[in-house]
Amino acid sequence: MTLLDGKKTSEAIQNEIAAEVAELKANGGKTPHLAAILVGNDGGSVTYVNNKVLACERVGFESSLFHYEDTLSEEELLLKIKELNLDEEIDGFIVQLPLPKHIDAEKVLEAIDPVKDVDGFHPINVGRMVAGLPAYLPATPAGILQLLERYEIETSGKHCVVIGRSNIVGSPMSILMAKSAYPGNCTVTLCHSRTKDLPSFTRQADIIIAAIGKPEFVTADMVKEGVVVIDVGTTRVPDASRKSGFRLKGDVNFDEVAPKCSFITPVPGGVGPLTIAMLLKNTLKAAKKEVY
Ligand code: GUN
Repeated sequence: MTLLDGKKTSEAIQNEIAAEVAELKANGGKTPHLAAILVGNDGGSVTYVNNKVLACERVGFESSLFHYEDTLSEEELLLKIKELNLDEEIDGFIVQLPLPKHIDAEKVLEAIDPVKDVDGFHPINVGRMVAGLPAYLPATPAGILQLLERYEIETSGKHCVVIGRSNIVGSPMSILMAKSAYPGNCTVTLCHSRTKDLPSFTRQADIIIAAIGKPEFVTADMVKEGVVVIDVGTTRVPDASRKSGFRLKGDVNFDEVAPKCSFITPVPGGVGPLTIAMLLKNTLKAAKKEVY
């Protein structure tokens, strides 16, 4: 069994980005600038956004963080998005999800200029991705593709079972794994909460991508020998022995499943660090006007 080291892979990608930024700057180019909007104080979201800002510093990007109380109105948020759409200094920006219940997330994501939508969540970027046109790929699925590629995992003709159909991970992942490119060319099954007898699908899988947010959902009896397991889950569970009071649990029962795997991602240190690296990569593409 080989552990897929997301931290190491993310560092390698960030080093490549840092080298490109240094070259851009040396040639008098613009310093890439990522902005993030965070509404409210959800613990996970605050950590993720802070990590995104820190990563910007590491690779030599400019960054701006706009942090609002969860009382911010939808109208005020839409105004801020309009402002960032027009701000020539900012190459790309994200609105951290989830948003408070009184804000319509779909409306918010549609308000972002697709040219600056480095999360790849705008319907235009989703459509371009499906059509195989240049687009910002959503960061977590793009990070998983990087892991498969950099560990030279064979995907062509394999059966990939994606568990979870979210717009952020499961749905785009299922599309990308089916595409005629490497990594891809898979036969894909997309399982979700209404799937009947889900283990009958996962037991046939050569590659499992679990993105449902249910800790330790995938157990040893659900997988075949030699499977590749990508665990996207990051549920916070209470842990009094830790200073933070919690620890992260994946969607896969790692101890049980790992011995049956050819490759598996740990949680933490698997998919998580790659999401940030790929967001930076999209921002670099935005600054270099490589997509639009
Ligand atoms: N919430 C969970 N993942 C993501 C992500 O990739 N981008 C944003 N904006 N919010 C998220």
